[in-house]
Amino acid sequence: MMKIKKLADLDLNHQRVFIRADLNVPQDEAGNITEDTRIRASIPGIRLALSKGAAVMVTSHLGRPTEGEFKPADSLAPIAARMSELLGQPVKLIQNWVDGGFSVAPGEVVLLENCRCNKGEKKNSDELAEKMAKLCDVYVNDAFGTAHRAEATTHALAMKAKIACAGPLVAAELEALGAALGNPKRPLVAIVGGSKVSTKLTILDALADKVDQLVVGGGIANTFLLAAGLPIGKSLAEPDLVPEAKRIIDKLKARGASVPIPTDVVTAKAFSPTAEATVKRAADVAADDMILDIGPDTAGLLADIMVSAGTIVWNGPLGVFEFDQFANGTQVLAAAIAKSSAMSIAGGGDTVAAIAKFEIGEQVGYISTAGGAFLEFLEGKTLPAVAALEARAND
Ligand code: 3PG
Ligand code: MG
Repeated sequence: MMKIKKLADLDLNHQRVFIRADLNVPQDEAGNITEDTRIRASIPGIRLALSKGAAVMVTSHLGRPTEGEFKPADSLAPIAARMSELLGQPVKLIQNWVDGGFSVAPGEVVLLENCRCNKGEKKNSDELAEKMAKLCDVYVNDAFGTAHRAEATTHALAMKAKIACAGPLVAAELEALGAALGNPKRPLVAIVGGSKVSTKLTILDALADKVDQLVVGGGIANTFLLAAGLPIGKSLAEPDLVPEAKRIIDKLKARGASVPIPTDVVTAKAFSPTAEATVKRAADVAADDMILDIGPDTAGLLADIMVSAGTIVWNGPLGVFEFDQFANGTQVLAAAIAKSSAMSIAGGGDTVAAIAKFEIGEQVGYISTAGGAFLEFLEGKTLPAVAALEARAND
């Protein structure tokens, strides 16, 4: 693993510690938190700082607000409340905090309002970072989910703060993902699902150089079915990316690896929770069919691949698992990953939701709190937030 300073190794007694966390959690229309994994994942870092005698400030972005235009829906207030419950102590929410003017004593935690409402955050402003650096003695990045963004709280501040280190979540993520990909036990199998090839083209391309089997799911699989010369009816796909899909298939083939193409599928005439599901051979898909899941034969084949894998990397479901009649493919896959002795790592919102739905969380080797950052790490890209911590490792 790359060399970075870690929070666990620092003396923090009476230090002002600024933690950049990723508390960007899903909310319903009323602002209620619908899934709190990221808040729970931030707690060990906060507790660690508290236990070392620090005065703790935490911030995060929530959504993608317009800078300089704070709206009530952008507020971290629901997160402060949840964090307070989890910590068992008050967590005061501080507005307009960039220039200071608030106090936090050793043993206390305050939450600094949505950092993406501050002007200069997204542009990674040095001027903003300089102000934030004055608030603290130690800067901690524990926001792995945002590690692929170079923003003022993830990058410029890490460069300007007196001391910059990784929190325990970032350290654990880097270690788990690095171990799975650095020297993976083979066969190495990746599952990439999702609606569009276009958004995952670079990851598919990068994985094509590394994996033994590249399993594609969802709308991405439909584009690969087209590339294999199979009919897809009115399924979601990107016909203009068929040449790219063919190129990826050929690249894997040239290495003795493969993209397993579904031999059977589950179709419907409409995309709806009550649509009638029909299992058919992939070659028999009709012009008015939509493919919404893989069929049982394909699911069985993928299950065998999972069980004999050495390492499994999972991002994206195989079908519309939110609707029960199209959930079988993802469910069989999840059960096989759970049963497999392979090291498995999973990431991304839909994948984490599928893991929760099929209750296999305990049997997955490592579940990342990240979506985009997880993918960029798998692509082998340098994550700007991590690069900043590396640059500060020796001072
Ligand atoms: C995420 O949810 O993917 C992270 O919190 C990053 O958010 P962003 O995509 O808005 O930068
Ligand atoms: Mg995102």
